[in-house]
Amino acid sequence: MNAEGRGRLDRMPEWTALAQHREKLGEVGLRELFAGDPERAGRYSLRAGDLHLDYSKHLVTDETLALLRDLAAAAGVAGLRDAMFRGEKINNTEGRAVLHTALRAPHDAVVEVDGENVVPAVHSVLGKMCVFANKVRGGQWTGHTGKPVRAVVNIGIGGSDLGPAMAYEVLRPYTARELTFRFVSNIDGADLHEALRDLDPETTLFVISSKTFTTIETITNATSARSWLLDGLGGDETAVARHFVAVSTNASEVAKFGIDPANMFEFWDWVGGRYSYDSAIGLSLMIAIGPDHFREMLAGFHLMDEHFRCAPPEENAPLLLGLLGIWYGNFHDAQSHAVLPYSHYLSRFTAYLQQLDMESNGKSVDRDGRPVSWQTGPVVWGTPGTNGQHAYYQLLHQGTKMIPADLIGFARPAGELDDRLAAQHDLLMANLFAQGQALAFGKTAEEVEAEGVPAEQVPHRTFRGNHPTTTILAPELNPSVLGQLVALYEHKVFVQGAVWNIDSFDQWGVELGKVLAKRIEPALTEGADVPGLDASTAALVSRYRALRGR
Ligand code: F6P
Repeated sequence: MNAEGRGRLDRMPEWTALAQHREKLGEVGLRELFAGDPERAGRYSLRAGDLHLDYSKHLVTDETLALLRDLAAAAGVAGLRDAMFRGEKINNTEGRAVLHTALRAPHDAVVEVDGENVVPAVHSVLGKMCVFANKVRGGQWTGHTGKPVRAVVNIGIGGSDLGPAMAYEVLRPYTARELTFRFVSNIDGADLHEALRDLDPETTLFVISSKTFTTIETITNATSARSWLLDGLGGDETAVARHFVAVSTNASEVAKFGIDPANMFEFWDWVGGRYSYDSAIGLSLMIAIGPDHFREMLAGFHLMDEHFRCAPPEENAPLLLGLLGIWYGNFHDAQSHAVLPYSHYLSRFTAYLQQLDMESNGKSVDRDGRPVSWQTGPVVWGTPGTNGQHAYYQLLHQGTKMIPADLIGFARPAGELDDRLAAQHDLLMANLFAQGQALAFGKTAEEVEAEGVPAEQVPHRTFRGNHPTTTILAPELNPSVLGQLVALYEHKVFVQGAVWNIDSFDQWGVELGKVLAKRIEPALTEGADVPGLDASTAALVSRYRALRGR
């Protein structure tokens, strides 16, 4: 799919209208906007599945929202969305369909790629995963010496790690606590060392997760894990079949590595790496939380898919979040976007979103290869509250940068907490609400003066306010809500890529570094000449070799 039929974004009348509106609106204040509309909080909130979204604390008016929706319509967001759901090859630089939504489609759905319905294959792999996960959880999947598995080590990187690792943390209260789960990604040997140092090869299962099965980090770590296993089990190669399973699209590389193809869980090239944790890439997660909870999570994804597909533009949460991001990134010069979950269990959520958003929309040419002259994806960052409040919130409140933020919280604490710890939840949530309020409305110099603060301190204690936030509130953090949240962000990223007219589903930008690392390695190990090495890198290579005594 190319950009036929649509003009350059910055030449669209809808774009110009937004630029003019931005100028006219000037530095409109949230205090003013709320004062002028007592219904604002109610009017500027919506429901998507179990998620309640309050977007009233944004620097927008009815006109802004209408103009943003006009832009989405003119940019063809709905058409591209429908093409995605239909299985058209909207990843144009790789000639691939983009069908993570098929991974959570009900078994009677029909989604065709090249004339073939992919849903039966999705459910067949899901079924195979369920059987395997139940065997491991129930102790029927035994290792080479007949002992049941006690530890599962997922080896993968990027989309083959961040999703399951994040979701495992989020859903810890749902996990089989008697089993140990580790997620190894880094080529730094320290990662695998720390993961394996207290594990027993007899009871350890490795899940090697890699879409391509050629990723250097994963294959290197998997090879080292294999040696660790064989060293621990007396070198009998047949042990590998009981202790290694693979998740991949590449059966021949899996076989080459020595993993029994019967122990491979398949997925497909129409699932992007960063959109894959609800495919077989979630196998470790499924072993942890069990098939039923995994299916609840898929149902949550599907619920948000349906909301995105069917909700009218005025009530469409991913559309709205995507457009608000465009408002700030393209019309307020915001460079970054903070995601601030008020849940300890969401500690890796923002790291997961970094790949989802930045690998998708970190692009500077449009679908036709022409340089864009508008800002694309923001820097996404953040950590759970309240910790961040004691670290970087100072900059959010009183710094010079415009940083829109999402505040995410839950009405009920995690079910496992005892009464004393559960009682802390109100304090956690009071902080979330307080931050939204302080960021939006600040504290004026007059208010500070009225407190009797000495005149010279007033500027230091004044809060400008007008820092926009979306508050996302759900009843509790459970598998379905996690699915809904992830799909919400997936589709938000989609909306932005569609408006910016970029291909959100390729990632050519990660290739160059990989190629250069392969070229540089022999220089480090053998002192080999690397043709074309620049002077700075050459000097660093020599310094490194000297420090290593080579
Ligand atoms: O970082 C580039 C990338 O291709 C990601 O998009 C992907 O999730 C990751 O590497 C891992 O790739 P694979 O699953 O093929 O090992």
